[in-house]
Amino acid sequence: MNVIIVPDYEQMSVNAAALVAAEIKARPRTVLGLPTGNTPKGMYRELVRLHRAGELDFSGVVAFNIDEYWGLSPDHPMSFAYFMRTHLLDHVNVAPENAHWPEVGADPALACRAYEEKIRAAGGLDLAVLGIGVNGHIGFNEPGTPFGSETHYVRLAQETRLANYRGYGFKDLAEVPEYAVTMGIATIMAARRVLLLASGREKATAVAQTVEGPVSEAVPASILQRHPDATLIVDEEAAFALSGPSA
Ligand code: PGA
Repeated sequence: MNVIIVPDYEQMSVNAAALVAAEIKARPRTVLGLPTGNTPKGMYRELVRLHRAGELDFSGVVAFNIDEYWGLSPDHPMSFAYFMRTHLLDHVNVAPENAHWPEVGADPALACRAYEEKIRAAGGLDLAVLGIGVNGHIGFNEPGTPFGSETHYVRLAQETRLANYRGYGFKDLAEVPEYAVTMGIATIMAARRVLLLASGREKATAVAQTVEGPVSEAVPASILQRHPDATLIVDEEAAFALSGPSA
C-alpha cells in the first residue's frame, strides 16, 4: 500500500484529483469506480475545475458509481446517482451512456447481477476511488462482508445509517434507507488500481486498522493491503493513529 499523508482536506482533494486526471490522460477510455460521500466532494470540485480550465477531457471516460441506496430513484436528491450528477457529471463531458449506477427498484438479485455484468462488459474497473466508513467499510461493504463478494444487496449497519443521517441532511433517521446495493470486495479488488481517501480524526482508527491491522473481514478496507496497486491519500487527522514509518 502506498500511503500518502497530506496536511489537510484541501490537499487530499487536489492530490486525489491529480491522480485521477493522470489516469484519464494516460488512458482516455478509463473505467472509473466513483464514490459518494463528503470525503470526495473536494476531489470532484477539483476535477470539474480542471475540466473547465480545458485540462481534462472526460469524453472517453466510463463511470460506475460504487453503490446506491435501495429504493431511491436516480432523481431522489438523496440518491447517489443524484449526488454524482450534481457534483461531477453535470459539469464535465462524460457521455450520458457512459455514466452508470445500480438500477434499484426491481429485483435486488437481478439488479446486482446486471450491474456486475455491466462492469465486466466495460472491461472491468481501471481505477476504483473509495472513501472509508468509521467502521472500515468500503462502498457499502460493511464489516463481515465476504472478501469474495461481487455486487450485492446489503442491509446497512446501524452506525452507517446514523453517520449518513448526520452527514447528509436526512430529516430523520427513518428516512435513511435500510438497504443498498454495492460493488463487492471482489469487484473492487479486481480494479487495476485503487485509491482510498480519508479525512478527519473520526476516520483515524479505521485508517490505522486498514494499513497496520490484520487483513480481516471485520475491517473490509484492510483487504487493500493485498491489492497490487492501492494508494491511500489521508490527511494528518486521519493519519493520527498510524504508528508505522510512513506516519
Ligand atoms: P464520508 O463517507 O465520505 O461521508 O465520510 C465515507 C463512507 O462512509 O464510505
